[in-house]
Amino acid sequence: MVSTEANEQRGSVPPHTPLTEYYKADAEREGYVMDLFDRTAKYYDTVEALFLNGGLLYRRLSMKFAGVRPGMKVLDVATGTGAVYRGAARLVGPTGRVFGVDPSAGMLAESRKSHDGPLTRGFAQALPFKSNQFDFVTMGIALRHVPDLKAAFSEYYRVLKPGGQIWILESHVPKSPIGHALTKLVWAKLIPGMTLWSTGSRDAKLLMDYYWDTIDQCVEPPEIVAVLKDVGLQDARSNLIVPGAFLEYRGRKPA
Ligand SMILES: C[S@@+](CC[C@H](N)C(=O)[O-])C[C@H]1O[C@@H](n2cnc3c(N)ncnc32)[C@H](O)[C@@H]1O
Repeated sequence: MVSTEANEQRGSVPPHTPLTEYYKADAEREGYVMDLFDRTAKYYDTVEALFLNGGLLYRRLSMKFAGVRPGMKVLDVATGTGAVYRGAARLVGPTGRVFGVDPSAGMLAESRKSHDGPLTRGFAQALPFKSNQFDFVTMGIALRHVPDLKAAFSEYYRVLKPGGQIWILESHVPKSPIGHALTKLVWAKLIPGMTLWSTGSRDAKLLMDYYWDTIDQCVEPPEIVAVLKDVGLQDARSNLIVPGAFLEYRGRKPA
């Protein structure tokens, strides 16, 4: 890992300050998040289906554009029910391999229903994999759940082969007042309401309420890119994928 002065100065980088309307202190966050995903795993794909599974398409197309190719070995971190995993598996084809890792047993059990590839329980910030072995590390819509961005990105760097790349999809909230208001209307009102209507589950609605609060409170994209650079990734940058909804983060381990 490249150790820069900025790297040493930055220390740990939580993705957002503690959300005390959900849990009392940061130490409780991990347990809260795990419990929430375990309880709502069975509804996760219903929420995707509300959007006609369009999310599966833009995940796969942006990974393809990022360079996920047949024969590659991919690690999908925070794999959840497998929305990124399945897209990556199609792109790498029969000569490649995708590994999924996620700390939620409930989410992994749901993922297991749609494929029989390798799945492991584990956290982004302490990956249970050997160093220097993956062509790509992917992560879909989970960046806000890791306790420390720097620890997670350092792990991505460690497990990538030299020349390997990261692709991270994450929600973002536009800064302009009108953009923020429109995004808030969709994520904080419309989607939780539609989720409650389609699942009948207050827990599933709570997951979407929590989703909005974490994206609204998340550190800004330039800070995330700075942490990617700090851990040694080259060409670190963000690109808009769906305006008002999703960004991707990219970077490459030096060859
Ligand atoms: C919103 S789901 C995303 C699932 C999938 N990647 C997608 O694109 O739909 C977030 C996932 O992050 C996982 N997660 C939470 N904390 C994590 C951590 N510290 N490390 C890795 N994954 C974590 C949750 O268990 C959950 O499955």
